[in-house]
Amino acid sequence: MAKLRTAFFCQNCGHSTSQWVGKCPSCGQWNTMVEEAIGPKVSSTKTVAKSVPLGIEELQGKSLSRIELVDGELQRVLGGGLVPGSVVLFGGEPGIGKSTLMLQVALQQNSLKVLYISGEESEEQISMRVSRLGLMNPDCSVLMETNLEQIIYHISELKPQLVIVDSIQTMSTGSLESAPGSVTQVRECANKIIEYAKQTSIPVFLIGHITKEGHLAGPKVLEHMVDTVLQFEGDRQHIFRLLRSTKNRFGSTNEMGIYEMTGVGLREVQDPSAVLLHREMGNLSGVAIASALEGVRPLMVEVQALTSTAVYGTPQRSTTGFDLRRLNMLLAVLEKRCGFRLAMKDVFLNIAGGLRIDDPALDMAVVAAILSSNEDIPLREGLSFAGEVGLSGEIRPVPRIDQRIAEVERLGFKEICVSSYNKGIGELSGRIKITQVSSVELLVAALFG
Ligand code: TYD
Ligand code: MG
Repeated sequence: MAKLRTAFFCQNCGHSTSQWVGKCPSCGQWNTMVEEAIGPKVSSTKTVAKSVPLGIEELQGKSLSRIELVDGELQRVLGGGLVPGSVVLFGGEPGIGKSTLMLQVALQQNSLKVLYISGEESEEQISMRVSRLGLMNPDCSVLMETNLEQIIYHISELKPQLVIVDSIQTMSTGSLESAPGSVTQVRECANKIIEYAKQTSIPVFLIGHITKEGHLAGPKVLEHMVDTVLQFEGDRQHIFRLLRSTKNRFGSTNEMGIYEMTGVGLREVQDPSAVLLHREMGNLSGVAIASALEGVRPLMVEVQALTSTAVYGTPQRSTTGFDLRRLNMLLAVLEKRCGFRLAMKDVFLNIAGGLRIDDPALDMAVVAAILSSNEDIPLREGLSFAGEVGLSGEIRPVPRIDQRIAEVERLGFKEICVSSYNKGIGELSGRIKITQVSSVELLVAALFG
């Protein structure tokens, strides 16, 4: 009997070696090499031309018409609908709501024949979720299966117009001996599914797990193989969920979707700013409102800060929804440029709503919230911020300022603090007061002067 061929695969990046090593030579991770069986090598035969090169003019007009999705947020994040034959990898932490969203999509698409394949949940669990969602699509079928060959067979029998695989890590093919979830299995199954999707023009959603480090589990190559990579994120303790795309062959990756987890599934949040702001609590010290942009959508976020004298020798710095290093940088700027003695203070920073926003325009609101808490003076009512803080204490301009101002205005704010270097906003003033500052010192003066 032929000896089983094996190789060692890095569970992080997919690099393979013939012998076990402690540290992956490719990505440098420790203890990630796992021995896996590799399939028999297919000997190459003589090349026969099967593909034909096309002239660029012949390609014109070969664009695909997209499938309209009922879910407006998903529709937008995908770049205006689902492209036939495209494969979308949908990742997120356990329990964040991936299965819920995908089942919801399957049931909402009333005009589509959908096949939902689950390798993780039982019929009872899915049935309970369906009744909880209160949606019905008579053309939706559910298949409990983990064997890839079976799945491909059922797809070719049923001929669905949309396939959802929950999850790619539970699928396995009989042609490989390694365990489901291993790098080779995940890669092989994804490969076969992608190939099948391209041949038949059936769009596929692949749900993928996320590792402790926040990467999609399985080889990194998976992200290269698929057309679109979506991430579902948010704080499980909070109700809001963000849908972002980190790769999209058919649209921009700037778009973001916001959902709210309710008792009856995920609800689209059409006006995030209005939901995220709670202004009925009155003016409190340590609270500042920033006009941020998530993708191309303006989003008002509430920044909360608390400073207090450090009880222990080393002051604590802690953030939720904001980069800790960025906070340390802003504190250093305040200390050095404005002489605030924050080195011996505990500083806590929180972005309300459990969202994580990576927009440098938040800086000015963060600084204002810290100062307000430190001085224990609430900021003026109806004040908002949009500006980046540089290392020398300068307030830097931020892109799409007119859009941010328009959002602030729409929500009834009276004033916005922006950088003096943001040009061409003179004509926007009139309806709302625009305070332009060029440095952190001047911001302090504008706030408390
Ligand atoms: P699930 O979709 O199973 O997460 P994932 O597939 O990403 O692991 O979501 C599970 C969570 O969502 C669970 O904690 C219950 C909650 N949930 C609701 O709050 N409302 C609902 O209507 C549903 C279906 C789930
Ligand atoms: Mg799930």
